[in-house]
Amino acid sequence: MHNALIDLERYPIDRPDSLRYQQVLRETREALHARGCAVLSGFLTPQGIAELVAEADGVADKGHRSFGHTNPYFSEDDPTLPPEHPVRRFFPRSNAFVAADHFPTSGPLRRIHDHSGFDAFIQSALEQTAFYRYADPLADVIVNVAEEGNGFPWHFDTNNFTVTLAIQNSEAGGSFEYAPDIRRGGEHFDEVQRVLDDTSDRVHRLDLQPGDLQLFKGRYSLHRVAPLRGKTRRYVAIFSYVEEPDMVGSPERTRQLYGRVLPIHLERAGLRADNYLD
Ligand SMILES: [Fe+2]
Repeated sequence: MHNALIDLERYPIDRPDSLRYQQVLRETREALHARGCAVLSGFLTPQGIAELVAEADGVADKGHRSFGHTNPYFSEDDPTLPPEHPVRRFFPRSNAFVAADHFPTSGPLRRIHDHSGFDAFIQSALEQTAFYRYADPLADVIVNVAEEGNGFPWHFDTNNFTVTLAIQNSEAGGSFEYAPDIRRGGEHFDEVQRVLDDTSDRVHRLDLQPGDLQLFKGRYSLHRVAPLRGKTRRYVAIFSYVEEPDMVGSPERTRQLYGRVLPIHLERAGLRADNYLD
């Protein structure tokens, strides 16, 4: 059946035997090897973008906001280090995530996620042997909602890879900036500090457009989303995959990100749900 959301002519994810599939796969892997970042621009059709924007508009007010300050390592401050050291550089972080249970299987986001060949293409592009959808009913696919002044400060990811789909941009700002492999073979705090001070020549800048699918390996590459400007909200969908089956988030982390937990989070953490819910 024709799926009008994904541009299957350009990205025939459901036809792994086609020449075009093999070409896209090769280019995606090459980009990941070279820079830890691959962008499938125009992955969605204009109709796909329009349907996702409408879906996100309908649930944007369900986003749970979290605020905080973070250094690039999501670690604690270390007062024994000099104040300019990267470990001591804390930046404000403000974000809202719309949890996965706001997206029905009949809606465009899950029709894309569930499209034949979607998971398999991503697994193959990332060359992952162990690859499972996150089994968390609040977090397998979510939408990040960001407004003027928001962004995401410089950091290294704690997960191996991230899969995102750009849905809507703000008027200005919001560039994805990254310093590939800056942490390879050691922390290289001096290099990291230059990035934070905006004096590094190792930073690449990407202006992702609505409909672009991005695969990114962020464990060794310092990266950020520059602050947004303008009234329009920025929407990005995030697809979560993990290396073990049946994984869900911890109750602490889930409450922090989504403002609530489900019985499954408590059960998996070895806590009886009814101890907490009534
Ligand atoms: Fe990240």
